[in-house]
Amino acid sequence: MLNIVVLVSGGGTNLQAIIDAVEAGEITNTRISGVISNNKNAYALKRAQKHGIKSLCISPKDFGSRTEFNRNFLEAVDGLNPDLLVLAGFLVVIPPEMTERYRNRIINIHPSLIPSFCGTGYYGLKVHEAALLRGVKVVGATVHFVDEGTDTGPIILQRAVEVEQGDTPEVLQRRVMEQAEWKILPRAIDLIANGKVKVEDGVVKVVEDDN
Ligand code: GAR
Repeated sequence: MLNIVVLVSGGGTNLQAIIDAVEAGEITNTRISGVISNNKNAYALKRAQKHGIKSLCISPKDFGSRTEFNRNFLEAVDGLNPDLLVLAGFLVVIPPEMTERYRNRIINIHPSLIPSFCGTGYYGLKVHEAALLRGVKVVGATVHFVDEGTDTGPIILQRAVEVEQGDTPEVLQRRVMEQAEWKILPRAIDLIANGKVKVEDGVVKVVEDDN
């Protein structure tokens, strides 16, 4: 059984997709051991509570220094004994001690086709604003392992989504969530939980079923 801890900062629609997929048996061999937010007002925390999932808030604002926050954050994560950390709209930089300890055991959902529209400054709606400004016709989402860089780790799954005439950043964001994020994030967790994801020389090999 894979114990996952989901890290969130906002609305938590990706968390909801994971909860729903676990409850529907679309993600197997997996238990959500906890949800951690850096924002006490995140609606994601309510979603966790509604489903009886342990939830807690730990914010850099509550500590005198980043070092102190990082130490407490790592302790909080370790305390939940996760096999896999899932960043689902988590907007705090992961401390290097955590990427080191959880090497190839942290995944993130990013709302673009990496390596487009990723890295520092590209998060949430900003990604979709940039895509529309550039005039790209295809966007999408990526699930990747987290390393020391920003959106630089090995790519696990991607799904493309078409831009439509008249899209606003909000409309595009919603389409990318519905058609890509809410599908590939649960899928990636299920693949990992069932031993189907291997990382070789920084590249992910997914062993899919024949059916
Ligand atoms: C999602 O679109 C996710 O891909 C994005 O934040 C949103 C969170 O929504 N993450 C990033 O931009 C990370 N760089 P949610 O709280 O409803 O899941």
